Amino acid sequence: MSISTLCVTLNNGKTMPLFGLGTWQSKPEEVKTAVRTALDAGYRLIDTAYNYLNEEAIGEVLEEYFNAGKLKREDIFICTKLASIYTRPADVELSMSKSLKRLKLNYVDLFLIHAPMACRVPEDPNNVFPIKDGKIDTEERVDIEGVWKEMEKLVDQGKTKSIGISNFNAAQLERVRKVARVMPVTNQVECHAYFPQTKLEEYMKQYNIPIMAYGPIGSPGRQNSRLNTDKTEPIVLLNDPVIGKLATKYNKTPAQILLRNLLQRNIIVIPKSVTPSRIQQNGNVFDFELSPEDMTVITGINKGLRLFKMEIMAHIYDYPFHADL
Ligand SMILES: NC(=O)c1ccc[n+]([C@@H]2O[C@H](COP(=O)([O-])OP(=O)(O)OC[C@H]3O[C@@H](n4cnc5c(N)ncnc54)[C@H](OP(=O)(O)O)[C@@H]3O)[C@@H](O)[C@H]2O)c1
Repeated sequence: MSISTLCVTLNNGKTMPLFGLGTWQSKPEEVKTAVRTALDAGYRLIDTAYNYLNEEAIGEVLEEYFNAGKLKREDIFICTKLASIYTRPADVELSMSKSLKRLKLNYVDLFLIHAPMACRVPEDPNNVFPIKDGKIDTEERVDIEGVWKEMEKLVDQGKTKSIGISNFNAAQLERVRKVARVMPVTNQVECHAYFPQTKLEEYMKQYNIPIMAYGPIGSPGRQNSRLNTDKTEPIVLLNDPVIGKLATKYNKTPAQILLRNLLQRNIIVIPKSVTPSRIQQNGNVFDFELSPEDMTVITGINKGLRLFKMEIMAHIYDYPFHADL
């Protein structure tokens, strides 16, 4: 198996690469080099979002690769997400159209509801997370069922091949499932060795819905986000001594051990980097295998530690993280 061939079959029969590039916090001028490096290294999945404000730059690189004949549209799997300012039934199509235009694509492979959160539409269109008094600016409840019905229409219209959710807890996933004509193919949630999401994973498995892991190496850059209000000393998963020992044992880096651990659990991973050497390093995880004993050793470092608590949205009715599952 190689980075470009390792895929998961989704519950709609379509295939999706198990490994890809994350792009949250990748600025437009940085993301271009990142995407070029990733594509050249064999990455075939790119994860972006309306909220990341970098779809346009990603679209430019894709166009460049298509025009140069280096890549065909069907060779690449693009995932983007419904804007949090447009998480209302009436705005779903608008969000999709804007993303397609920015990405210069006729369709994406996967469109996710970014979060069960409907922010107030701000005056500044670039203010994708309007914050008021230190909190996300919204008091609205999300019409989860109504939004899902509009997501399904995007599949009918060919604007996306598959649809899914992100940051949904089990009860919210259940609400989608109950009304779904088109099932969600994945739920993109925080998942790593300190927060392995085994309960949610078990629950989702019965519906053949794999986890798409964000923060797979512990998101060391999240502290710099304006969404982060936790000013305590950050806990750095990459510095965990158990992971360090395994890195020495397998002659790999801690990041590679953490990514391999998730891949061996059949979890989709999308490590983010704008550093070319790290992008190549992260993709170089297909030439070794963690033994079952070492997989168990990694299970043992679970701290039940959610790094993305998203405190600034904790006041909203649909805040998903009160429940553990
Ligand atoms: N759905 C959601 O709500 C949600 C939330 C968060 C993230 N995501 C998605 O998931 C992706 C991954 O999550 P994430 O970006 O939060 O965290 P991550 O991939 O766990 O970590 C990314 C950070 O690690 C650094 N890094 C990357 N490779 C490294 C290596 N080999 N050694 C040391 N440091 C390394 C990067 O720095 P440099 O870039 O400076 O190299 C960056 O600061 C995101 O980019 C985004 O696409 C989704």
